[in-house]
Amino acid sequence: PRSTLFPYTTLFRSPFEPFPSETGTPALQDTDQPPLIPKPRKLLMKKGFLPLGQPLCLYMEQHAITRSSWQRKLESELAHLRISLSFNVRLSSEHHIQPQITHSEGYRLEVDSQGIVIAGKGTGLKHALQSLVQLIWWAYYQNERQLPNLTIEDYPEYEWRGLHLDVSRHFFTVEEVCSYLDSLARIKLNRFHWHLTDDQGWRIESHKFPKLNAIGAWRKETDGSSYGGFYTQEEIKQVVSYASELGIEVIPEIDIPGHSLAILAAYNELACFPKAFETLNCWGISEDILCAGKDGTICFLKELFSEITELFPGRYVHLGGDEAPKSNWKNCPHCQKRIIDKGLADEEELQSWLLKELIKHLKTLNKTLIGWDEILDGKPGKEPIVMVWRGDGRDAATKAEALGNRYILCPNQICYFDWHQSAREGEPGAFGVTTVEQVYAFEPGLYIDKKPDLLLGAQANVWTEQMPSFERVKYMAFPRAIALAESLWSDPQSKDIEEFKARLAALRGCL
Ligand code: ACM
Ligand code: ZN
Repeated sequence: PRSTLFPYTTLFRSPFEPFPSETGTPALQDTDQPPLIPKPRKLLMKKGFLPLGQPLCLYMEQHAITRSSWQRKLESELAHLRISLSFNVRLSSEHHIQPQITHSEGYRLEVDSQGIVIAGKGTGLKHALQSLVQLIWWAYYQNERQLPNLTIEDYPEYEWRGLHLDVSRHFFTVEEVCSYLDSLARIKLNRFHWHLTDDQGWRIESHKFPKLNAIGAWRKETDGSSYGGFYTQEEIKQVVSYASELGIEVIPEIDIPGHSLAILAAYNELACFPKAFETLNCWGISEDILCAGKDGTICFLKELFSEITELFPGRYVHLGGDEAPKSNWKNCPHCQKRIIDKGLADEEELQSWLLKELIKHLKTLNKTLIGWDEILDGKPGKEPIVMVWRGDGRDAATKAEALGNRYILCPNQICYFDWHQSAREGEPGAFGVTTVEQVYAFEPGLYIDKKPDLLLGAQANVWTEQMPSFERVKYMAFPRAIALAESLWSDPQSKDIEEFKARLAALRGCL
């Protein structure tokens, strides 16, 4: 029975299962061809089988991969299936890998009757192991105690394959976040965008600015109860290191100058017009934002980023920049003086000025800045990477191409997984409907009219206003994230929605 044979948390769930569709579970056409998601570039079946009943020999290049806690986790997952993976770190001569893997995330996986050989650079090896786990799960799901001999050669279509999680509107534990990361890794997503701050709660421990935690991390709900929490610096390091073992880069988002009431609740002197602010207990856009005219705000942000970026060894820091109403800036003497002093045209250019100050600072910390597409409303320069989200995103993507900014697609209408996933009555979610089929049909490379030279890839965003539990997060994120993962990894020419659904059904045990 599933409960003992499938201990791994599956992404499929009740009460509504938008997939498989009402037409029933599609059958795999060719059961000789094992299902993998995302679909590999090349899968060649060979004669013979590898029995799974005994310890498996896994050959890889010496020192190619260290025995990490992640590997132990993999072993324990497979141990539930009574499979012991013995890691043989020697590459025997008859298993010499040809041809060389060139893509930084590419891998080769060979199953033959003697054992399993994997090759690839760092992250490629991790992807190879995830493919292997999918194969093993599938075999067990089929009641097979053997794997067919085969060779897989594989690499991704896009470098940026991301999933986001908002932990401000609702807070999720370290264990839940790590479980989310497990799911990302299983479908070869490689970027985790961690939305750590917003009007409704500040979620990062700060030693320099402790009121962010004492005050900004908590909100008073309408029933009078207190809701909130934050990750200690130690916990953040744990998550980042866990992600890194899975081959995932963590991108922290500290949303400024808007979406920052949690900061203002703690340090109201950073507002244009200080008063007693409260961390917000409802959803929407606040008119109160950080004052860009006060030197104190700039100093605060620089000190804060110096502290926080120490926790995140990755290349990127996301500074938000979205939905920052300028009404206060228009009336604030500090903001207006800054506009005059710096020869800026208007309040949008003031936001760009703030951004550029922070870009200079982040550069000293070796970080590249990412911002939502509102940053293109001013003159941000070519350096920041733009996350395209408003409307269908085509305008912003086209503008980014024209201005020379690299960009990531996450258009609202396709990549916002807080939207309903079916039109069924009672289906949880907000706004419109985005189905798994629509996500699967998404082709970032054909999204705008010209050849996308500066496109890095895409991601989906999981805003949690309507997701009070982690169960609900998983319900909303999957299987749409699985469809996105295939859209971002596999050969666009090979995509086939019906066949994808059949693979999805066949891999239910392990996704
Ligand atoms: C956003 O959805 N406000 C980026
Ligand atoms: Zn101001």
